[in-house]
Amino acid sequence: MKQKQRTDGLAGVIAGRTAICSCGEKGMGLNYRGYSIEDLSENAEFEEVAYLLLYGELPDRAQLDAYRQHLMELRRLPELLKTVLEALPETSQAMEVLRTGCSVLGCLEPERDFTEQLHVADRLLAAFPGMLLYWYHFSRRGVRIETETDQASLGAHFLELLTGEPPQDMYRQAMNLSLILYAEHEYNASTFSARITASTLSDSYSAITSAIGTLRGPLHGGANEATLDLIRSYGDPDAAEQGVLQLLAEKQRIMGFGHRVYSVCDPRAALVKAWAKRLSSQAEDAYLFPIAERIETVMWREKELFPNLDFYSALTYHFMRIPKMMFTPLFVCSRVTGWCAHVMEQRGDNRLIRPSAEYVGPRPKPYVPIADRAAKAADPLHGENGS
Ligand code: SDX
Repeated sequence: MKQKQRTDGLAGVIAGRTAICSCGEKGMGLNYRGYSIEDLSENAEFEEVAYLLLYGELPDRAQLDAYRQHLMELRRLPELLKTVLEALPETSQAMEVLRTGCSVLGCLEPERDFTEQLHVADRLLAAFPGMLLYWYHFSRRGVRIETETDQASLGAHFLELLTGEPPQDMYRQAMNLSLILYAEHEYNASTFSARITASTLSDSYSAITSAIGTLRGPLHGGANEATLDLIRSYGDPDAAEQGVLQLLAEKQRIMGFGHRVYSVCDPRAALVKAWAKRLSSQAEDAYLFPIAERIETVMWREKELFPNLDFYSALTYHFMRIPKMMFTPLFVCSRVTGWCAHVMEQRGDNRLIRPSAEYVGPRPKPYVPIADRAAKAADPLHGENGS
């Protein structure tokens, strides 16, 4: 039986307008500036979609070739940024590395005024994979990799930075699809966070740093890593069924399921599931795919909850041998396009975003001088017995 929609967490509240993406709008399905996610996934390169989101329309052939070349030329990292990345320990959370890298780039190449917003967007889009992989290889192996490759697509560029080899075609296509699916999603928490920051007339780097910090949370972007742990914790579909039933009985959240906006399915899930299945055919641990399908079956039967984008994305990345700690940073590498598009849209018709709150605190009371205040039983700074 479907739960009644709660209204806390701004659920169901229209918090603004956008012409960038419609998701969940009755009859509209998920589309980016009017193009359906199905059409884009089937026909487009991720760089076409990035151009659509940032520049407002799909590029023609000459524009796409020029844009690709432009992004390739923006991949180099400043020496000072590399120095900072080398100082971040191997134990750092990869999302913190990107959040830090974004802030440092903002110090080294500040956005002097909003006429530079598109350059900042392209610069971050081009540089994020290199930031992550430069830190990854240095912190683990002490190796300073080149952050430029001959790969024209961001997905293939990411994979070559990871492995040092050009990726096989199947991986290239799977990455292209995943980056398109993760690129934009209306007023999700991290995008809204970016818009709030932009509405104060702050700079793009601050807005993207806000968004990265927001995406890090397991209720939002961080779910895809937890999802893989769940799937891999079972040896076969029957064990997965028993395990998930047990978790549900304990009122646990199953990462990779449910969505604030969609009620019966996340249209992106089926598209990425097809790639997880395709890739499983050449994976040593292909048995994980039927386990994932069983979890999907159980979740719908027991809770009418469906897989969101993260559930099968986790398997797709895993089957491409991408380390789990890179799953959410990959979300950043794609969603930076949607975030920057929203920052620019907010700036284009701005009013400070500042809602009101319902006050539920104490009624007005008189001030009591400290000398007249009775000693409190518990000392909150040092616990009950003041230790
Ligand atoms: C993304 O917003 C976006 O667009 C995000 C995103 C994007 O592209 O930007 O689509 C990307 O972030 C996908 C979501 C990734 N997060 C997870 O997979 C985490 C697990 N999912 C849940 O925490 C939850 O479904 C949310 C956070 C996604 C949505 O939460 P809501 O809308 O606040 O729903 P809720 O917490 O009020 O749950 C409603 C009911 C509850 O039952 P009761 O406690 O009222 O009895 O459904 C249950 C929940 O317990 N429920 C779940 C569940 N999700 C909801 N029960 C078990 N497992 C789950 N995953």
